[in-house]
Amino acid sequence: MKKAILLTLFLSLVIAGESKPVHKANVPQLGKNSIDEVLKAMTLQEKAELLVGGDYEVVNGKKGPVLPEAKIGAAGMTKAIPRLGIPCTVLTDGPAGVRISPTRKGDSRTYYATGNPIGTLVASSWDTQCARAVGRNMGNEVLEYGCDVLLAPGMCLHRNPLCGRNFEYFSEDPVLSGTMSGNEILGVQSNGVGTSAKHFVCNNQETFRYQNNSIVGQRALRELYLKNFEFAIRIGNPWTIMSSYNLLNGPCTQESKPLLHDWLRGEAGYKGMVMTDWSGPRNTVNQVNAENDLMEWGLDVQVQDIINAVKDGKLSIDVVNRNVRNLLNYIVKTPHFRHYKASDAPDLKAHAAVAREMAAQGIILLKNREGTLPLVQGQKIALFGIGSYKGFLANGFGSGDVNKPYVVNIFKGLENAGYQVDPDMAELYEDADADINIGPSYARHRASVDNVAIMTIRRNSGEGSDRRNEPGDWKLSPAELNTMKNIADAFHAQGKKLIVILNIGGVIETTSWKNIPDAILLPWQPGEEGGNAIANVISGKVCPSGHLPMTFPLAYEDVPSSKNFPQNDNGGVFDKDKSTIGFTKYDEGIWVGYRYFDTFDKPVSYPFGYGLSYTTFSFSNLKVRYGREVCKAVVTVTNTGKVAGKEVAQLYVSAPKGALEKPKKELRAFAKTRTLQPGESQTLTMTFRTMDMASFNENTNSWVLDPGVYQVKAGQSVEDIKATAPMKISKGVQKKVLAVI
Ligand code: BGC
Repeated sequence: MKKAILLTLFLSLVIAGESKPVHKANVPQLGKNSIDEVLKAMTLQEKAELLVGGDYEVVNGKKGPVLPEAKIGAAGMTKAIPRLGIPCTVLTDGPAGVRISPTRKGDSRTYYATGNPIGTLVASSWDTQCARAVGRNMGNEVLEYGCDVLLAPGMCLHRNPLCGRNFEYFSEDPVLSGTMSGNEILGVQSNGVGTSAKHFVCNNQETFRYQNNSIVGQRALRELYLKNFEFAIRIGNPWTIMSSYNLLNGPCTQESKPLLHDWLRGEAGYKGMVMTDWSGPRNTVNQVNAENDLMEWGLDVQVQDIINAVKDGKLSIDVVNRNVRNLLNYIVKTPHFRHYKASDAPDLKAHAAVAREMAAQGIILLKNREGTLPLVQGQKIALFGIGSYKGFLANGFGSGDVNKPYVVNIFKGLENAGYQVDPDMAELYEDADADINIGPSYARHRASVDNVAIMTIRRNSGEGSDRRNEPGDWKLSPAELNTMKNIADAFHAQGKKLIVILNIGGVIETTSWKNIPDAILLPWQPGEEGGNAIANVISGKVCPSGHLPMTFPLAYEDVPSSKNFPQNDNGGVFDKDKSTIGFTKYDEGIWVGYRYFDTFDKPVSYPFGYGLSYTTFSFSNLKVRYGREVCKAVVTVTNTGKVAGKEVAQLYVSAPKGALEKPKKELRAFAKTRTLQPGESQTLTMTFRTMDMASFNENTNSWVLDPGVYQVKAGQSVEDIKATAPMKISKGVQKKVLAVI
């Protein structure tokens, strides 16, 4: 009888994959014992709880109700299992800095975090050191505010200019986006904290974001959307990756085994942990099987799902163990596991200085008629637009926002730089609730008393909705256009100039008005120190060196994905008959951004890679060397102008004809010079993997590198090639892959 009871007990434990909880003294402890030993000691309940995140801790078997006070505002946690020495870990947004609550109950101190420049601005610097510096800034605050993972970088490709979250993201090109994200990840993780590269993958719109199915061909997936993450993984090795809300060719990304297991772990060799976006319950068993390790925000019902499925034989305990192992491997790297004593007092002053310097690196000069900029000191400025004052945007809204201590707007920045801003105008705008439609007589008056006009156009967007192809968003509103014309007429009549500043998070239409002002500066949403950074470029203290990480088309309708991008249906009801709601067909395939405009000779307003400077540069001695694994290019950049400055060398490759239609040229590498004095040169070396030049054949599910002569081109934009060198590949390569996603 006793034997039978023991046998039943033993069997039930084996079936459930559980070990009997052992006495504390004998319990393996994470860190002291191996991960395998700890795993063996975990009950099924504990395993399931670890795979399901939650806003609560389990301390001595008791659940705390919410995040501890010091972590309020953070996005979520993984659960602690004190019995096994497994601490909780804390996950916090986001792409522009740590997003925690700045105040705490019963505490008069504040806990603000640095508002860094947005991802799009970081990408506009084309400077991997800039991405690392911003990453270091953010990572240190993750550490010092007692968190473990920054839910960043946001790195979806800019498939369409109207995606509401493009400001968090980097670029329309996978090499630029993946490289800059990879370097930002390195910067964050150099602090001994983690990142979560997100949102994996094809989360290129906000409309219907929880339910939308992205229908994407294998070629576009491979050459663009997966390549982007592949670069970030290769360079930065993020501790975690966040699967996206959307569905991809059928299943939710978090339930897709071909995506998360076969491609990510198999082909891309990713060794880290995967967590969901904050989606709530979906099919729990499918997620565990797909190797989506952590479910956020985590609900008890999901814990129960796992336990039941294992007990019913619907989910293998080996699969559960695999995911738990991924979690434990992550946890042993965290500050919480190291018992790091967070100071709660990062050096916000030092970080603000970095944010300011880096913001200036990504500001793009789009137009500069007759050397309008830089502006000499002592000028009296008529500063227009609410975006110059209290409406200035450091970043967009949603989880990409940061609770920052202050924002330096353009007015303040210009004053700090020693300019005299017309005080009447400051008063006018500080009293206004919205932007002001400036009439001709007011403008004439300003033109008679001020030396130069600056007008700021602002655009806000963020999580949960996409932007609109409408006046006031994609286009200028009638009032903005009216104001711009009136100011330009009045100031031009006096021989004075108008500078337009674009305080925007994504592309807007520029074709219809860009001939009106004398200069156009694009600082995006440059973070809390934005006004100071902008003033540094306006004054010439910093020579602009940013370049566009995406194309500015002539018209929205020119963008191929505009045919399949939802408009006016935010939060709409699922409608099978509408191709843009419920599902989005990526019918444009690989023809995203400059790949389309450049290949089909479609004129644009500003091409990918474009950006002016206060000086000029020449490119010479381009040399390329083919290698079976890696190709190398060197080019010498010389400052041929009159002031010191930096320049980006963009390396494009045109592949020879093959069976597949290919883009005319594609970015393969890039590098930025240090500050070069007039006359000074620097030789830049750029490398790229040979197989990165291959095209993906979806019929054979293989990468194809055609033999022939490849033209390697170094330039200042996709349309402005300065030097070309041929590179011969005598033997082609075909590499079959397994995953079909
Ligand atoms: C967003 C993520 C974010 C998460 C946690 C989600 O709604 O899509 O980007 O990290 O919330 O706040």
